[in-house]
Amino acid sequence: MTMISASILACDLSRLNDEIKRVEPYIDMVHLDVMDGVFVPNITFGLPLLEAVKRSTNLPIDAHLMIVEPQKYVERFVEAGASIVTIHYEACLHLHRTIYQIKDKGAQAYVALNPHTPIELLSEILSDIDGVLVMTVNPGFSGQRFIETTVGKLRKLSKMIKERQLKTKIMVDGGINEETVQKVVCNGAEILVMGYGIFKNDPASFKKKLEEIKCF
Ligand code: DX5
Ligand code: ZN
Repeated sequence: MTMISASILACDLSRLNDEIKRVEPYIDMVHLDVMDGVFVPNITFGLPLLEAVKRSTNLPIDAHLMIVEPQKYVERFVEAGASIVTIHYEACLHLHRTIYQIKDKGAQAYVALNPHTPIELLSEILSDIDGVLVMTVNPGFSGQRFIETTVGKLRKLSKMIKERQLKTKIMVDGGINEETVQKVVCNGAEILVMGYGIFKNDPASFKKKLEEIKCF
């Protein structure tokens, strides 16, 4: 079953608790976009907001760290309650070490790839990680247009995981909505991160559309 992780970047943050409650029946996780203004051209939020989300819901929280030097912070995100911590391949010099910092603290470690980063670069680390986050937009903002070339990456990654009989999950993030969902799901996406698609549209109608998808 395809899961949905709702990105609160697209919700009305002045009503965070109500916004989470409104979409909660339709989602499986809450996605927290942490941006530092250095790795990406935007600044968002950090640990205090994760703690606030934790008080609003019992759903698992996945923290997507779009920050440089994530090794300095990953443990604190796990301590604050993140079930999944996602770090960017492009931001890590010692990726293997940082992945084990996350896992040793008891959370799942996912690695995110920017749209231009080939999935082959994860070949040697694929069996160590719990999931891959394929960015389907350039990280930094909600509400951007889906980048079509990422569909081929999804297909390749899914084939690589199957051939090696791994349990590594595939998550997609950016521009997922009623128009783009079919092609990501049918090419291997198992967790959909959604900002606009869930908070600015009707979550019930999206969920229905997702359940009706048939891949040929
Ligand atoms: C972009 C973020 C996404 C973003 C998704 O850098 O990582 O999680 O909030 O928003 P939508 O679904 O609106 O593209
Ligand atoms: Zn994200």
